[in-house]
Amino acid sequence: MHNYQKLMIALIGLLMLGMVQISRASLVSTGDFNKDFFVMWSPSHVNTSADGGTRSMKLDQESGSGFSSNQMFLFGQIDMQIKLVPGRSAGTVVAYYLTSDQPNRDEVDFEFLGNVVGRPYILQTNIYADGFDDREERINLWFDPTKDFHTYSILWNLYQIVFMVDSIPIRVYRNHADKGVAYPRWQPMSIKATIWNGDSWATGGGRDKIDWSKGPFIASFRNYKIDACIWKGNARFCRAESSSNWWNTEQFSTLTSMQRRWFKWVRKYHMIYDYCQDNQRFQNKLPKECSLPKY
Ligand SMILES: *[C@@H]1O[C@H](CO)[C@@H](O)[C@H](O)[C@H]1NC(C)=O
Repeated sequence: MHNYQKLMIALIGLLMLGMVQISRASLVSTGDFNKDFFVMWSPSHVNTSADGGTRSMKLDQESGSGFSSNQMFLFGQIDMQIKLVPGRSAGTVVAYYLTSDQPNRDEVDFEFLGNVVGRPYILQTNIYADGFDDREERINLWFDPTKDFHTYSILWNLYQIVFMVDSIPIRVYRNHADKGVAYPRWQPMSIKATIWNGDSWATGGGRDKIDWSKGPFIASFRNYKIDACIWKGNARFCRAESSSNWWNTEQFSTLTSMQRRWFKWVRKYHMIYDYCQDNQRFQNKLPKECSLPKY
């Protein structure tokens, strides 16, 4: 075969791959923070790059800050690249989450607990369903999240909520609503990111206070992707299993075998707290989902 023929075949292959992705995607974000998000509080503590692609937020003695998506969503996958506060960040909390902001709220949280230099960064996750949380899990990240951007994702569909770090599933919360376990599935949620002072509890259980001389504390966000069903007041539309709602299709109803392997690796080597193992806290009456399968 001539080289140019090989080149043509490679090109056609690439095009086809691209087309497969296009037909499956329902990307609803522009990649421009100024277009898809608004600053919830303290605009003076937020910087956005000229092209809108990167945003940083800071915490100092005066204030923290936060931004929120303009739209609300019901199911989908959201990816966000985050670079966390470098140096001594003990007491700070960077949160990236979905929330319905209702009294009986649903919420899916990533919370990065600032650290003391030399210790690994702790990532706490939590889930509120129908107003109740108490579902914390914590892992040590296996890399330094302050050196580079890493991708933190939430896949949320009719069957499961999967938290991922660089595509590795670190947590799964299955829809066991048929067995009486609350599951976020009716309330649309917005996407939020915040940085705030959590030194009453976050690091060392509240022992490690913020050292303001090490501030300001800055976290950066970029390359987010919102592939989700925009809430337009009709749950049926978002609950449908269609090619545009790809996250609701069979393929995404459980972890793949490869994902299971990674998931087990995280839980074996990096998990440091699991509410489902905290018998003391729940006085031997662990929440119902703890005894049900995760996939
Ligand atoms: C925004 O840019 C200014 C000027 O460079 C800097 O002083 C400030 O700390 C930055 N804030 C954030 C949140 O990055």
